[in-house]
Amino acid sequence: MNILVAGGAGYIGSHTVVELLIRGEQVVIVDNLSNSRENVIDRIERITCKRPGFVKADVRDSGKMNEVFAQHKFDAVIHLAGLKVVGESVEKPIVYYRNNLESTWVLVDLMSKYKVPSIIFSSSATVYGETDQVPINENAEYHCPNPYGNTKMINEIFLKDVVTACPDISAICLRYFNPIGAHESGQIGEDPLDIPNNLMPYITQVAIGKLERLSIFGDDYPTHDGTGVRDYIHVVDLAKGHLAALDYAEQNHDLGFLAVNLGTGKGYSVLDLVHTFSEVCGKSIPYQITARRPGDVATSYADPSKAKELFGWEAEFDLKRMCEDSWRWQKCCDKFL
Ligand code: NAD
Ligand code: WQD
Repeated sequence: MNILVAGGAGYIGSHTVVELLIRGEQVVIVDNLSNSRENVIDRIERITCKRPGFVKADVRDSGKMNEVFAQHKFDAVIHLAGLKVVGESVEKPIVYYRNNLESTWVLVDLMSKYKVPSIIFSSSATVYGETDQVPINENAEYHCPNPYGNTKMINEIFLKDVVTACPDISAICLRYFNPIGAHESGQIGEDPLDIPNNLMPYITQVAIGKLERLSIFGDDYPTHDGTGVRDYIHVVDLAKGHLAALDYAEQNHDLGFLAVNLGTGKGYSVLDLVHTFSEVCGKSIPYQITARRPGDVATSYADPSKAKELFGWEAEFDLKRMCEDSWRWQKCCDKFL
């Protein structure tokens, strides 16, 4: 298959490209490098011994994207090109709406023009927001707590409308839970350009000595130890989920629209993660308990049965392995920056 991976230089995209290349697919990455580095292409090549095509461009640049679509006969689009920082989306909703929505419009318009049959879209468990029902299945209603989540929800609704009007196009929205970990080679991983917002990169930077101590946002949630519970999923498992979704789309041209959770189905607390990481790296992680972070929910974990049923996919890596790979990446990453 010949796949366009929009946002393929980023954290989840680079791992997905690696899995695609290992399987023998042709890949063209389009990325504007707003949150990634061009040398990730070399690192992908070192892992796979294959070099993906790379075009440095904004996906919203319809003229440039028209050239890319005209040059390659794509069988599918994987769309990961998005801004993803929740707090920033509250401060800059216009930037987030423009980036995250226009990119999808341009891609879908060109898919229609060049008869590309399927799109796999990076959605998020964020679309569920506050919910008192766990595990969360795909029938739960949208309760988006912030502009970032709204862009995911609106993209999903847009894609649903598109496939209704254009039966030749199908769309699978993958609702990721909490991706962590990195490729076992230590060549690619998450690369927060600023102080991390997410838990795992914060912990790894405390462990390596870049940050002094972790703040744990609240220990009075109704969970087994009072700290927030999430469904952490290894990024390589997540990447493989994209391949499984692609295969499903290829075999089911009339699937229309699908929203599918990618998670493990297991919930771990902040303290579970801190303790497991501490065992893996052999250091204690200094932390302090602070106030709850506004907008956080107590517990979120997936019902991943739809992905298993439809795609035959399920996550394989456990929390310890996620911590080992995150730690290896933290120790390697500085040489690539
Ligand atoms: P990332 O920032 O590492 O990767 C996104 C990539 O898209 C970056 O390389 C960035 O340069 C590129 N990009 C952004 N806007 C672009 C544009 N207009 N044109 C071209 N390139 C553009 O983020 P990630 O963690 O790999 O996330 C990938 C996708 O998955 C995002 O859409 C994100 O919202 C979604 N997602 C991420 C998480 C998570 O926790 N990481 C969870 C759920 C959903
Ligand atoms: C996990 C847990 C925090 C940092 C976010 C986005 C979501 C998705 C994934 C894109 C929570 C606690 C965190 C810290 C802490 N991204 N925490 N101290 O909030 O579940 O999801 O990333 O789609 O949209 O909202 O992930 O890693 O920020 O937090 O105590 O310094 O760790 O309170 O319980 P979250 P997270």
